[in-house]
Amino acid sequence: MTTTTTMIAWTQAAYGGPETVTRNELPVIEPGPGQILIDVAATALNSADVRLMRGEPLLVRLGFGLSRPKQPVQGRDVAGRVTALGDGVTGLSLGDRVAGELDGGGLAQAVLTEAAKVVAIPDNVSDVDAAAVPLAGGTAWQALEAAAVSADCRVLILGAGGGVGTFAVQLAKLRGARVHALSRPEAFDALTRLGADEVSDRAELGTLPRDHYDVIIDLGGVAPLRSLLQLLRDGGRLVSVAGGEAHVFGPLGRMLRGVVLSIGRSRKFVPLMATAKPEITRSLLELVASGRLTPLVAATLPLAQAPQALALVDRGGQIGKVVVAVDRGVPPSSRA
Ligand SMILES: NC(=O)c1ccc[n+]([C@@H]2O[C@H](COP(=O)([O-])OP(=O)(O)OC[C@H]3O[C@@H](n4cnc5c(N)ncnc54)[C@H](OP(=O)(O)O)[C@@H]3O)[C@@H](O)[C@H]2O)c1
Repeated sequence: MTTTTTMIAWTQAAYGGPETVTRNELPVIEPGPGQILIDVAATALNSADVRLMRGEPLLVRLGFGLSRPKQPVQGRDVAGRVTALGDGVTGLSLGDRVAGELDGGGLAQAVLTEAAKVVAIPDNVSDVDAAAVPLAGGTAWQALEAAAVSADCRVLILGAGGGVGTFAVQLAKLRGARVHALSRPEAFDALTRLGADEVSDRAELGTLPRDHYDVIIDLGGVAPLRSLLQLLRDGGRLVSVAGGEAHVFGPLGRMLRGVVLSIGRSRKFVPLMATAKPEITRSLLELVASGRLTPLVAATLPLAQAPQALALVDRGGQIGKVVVAVDRGVPPSSRA
């Protein structure tokens, strides 16, 4: 008699909106060499998940599946407990709580991943907070690093109220920078609580002082690049994290324009392509554990409402992160 373990997973058979994501029962696959199986506790969603759900910009389909997503389960930022170890995995034990940015698969009760992609979650950090950290926190960290933000830098953050922005504000303050956050009035209180020295409506971009900022972190991707470069002082750096909504090439056009605009100028344009870096996730989780960094979670929905959670991120406008929490009372089922 063979035993099949199954799990609930939200899958897609074709690119499209949240309505294309349906509940299915899939077999749980045992980990191969170097892999672990994680019982998912929480999965945070990012704009990467909705872009891959929709297959937009079209360029992403070259890498992620031409006509349908190669990985049918979205959800890259995962926190959970190790339930099986493949051969050769060291440094992890059954039952360990781990988090990391994976290659998708998080909108399910269990996910298989390379062990090297995860790090331990400190005891006093919740699963929901841990899941919120890897991609958004890691992008904010890499953006500040690319901009060489240091003490007393004047930093302007556009899109400060989003998932990456709420981390960027706090991490810039931890580096001793003076932070001016641009957002919507609904996010002002939260951004002030997170440490922003000044908050302004993004509609007021045109009134900001020229030749003033050392660093601009652009997470909105819509403000004219020429205007942003004018706000920088000589030697300033504009880090472009978001790049517009072009249907085919996504951010590439804006990034190319930025490079061309900054040729021969003392103001530098820095396009950022952040990557998953477990060592950064580890540092961020330590900051959370010590109370110096707070993941701002806008909404936590149960796994049963995964499409609604994807719809929230797809629509935009949340202040902070959207997280899907998996009900611990519904474990993957074992069927003979
Ligand atoms: N390059 C990379 O490696 C990388 C990695 C991660 C994310 N990203 C990109 O970075 C961006 C931010 O990611 P996220 O996870 O923080 O997304 P998010 O949570 O959706 O936040 C995006 C923020 O952009 C601002 N925004 C949206 N529409 C805008 C508009 N029309 N004009 C001005 N600002 C607008 C909003 O901030 P306010 O409401 O505060 O204004 C919004 O909260 C996304 O475009 C994402 O695709 C890039």
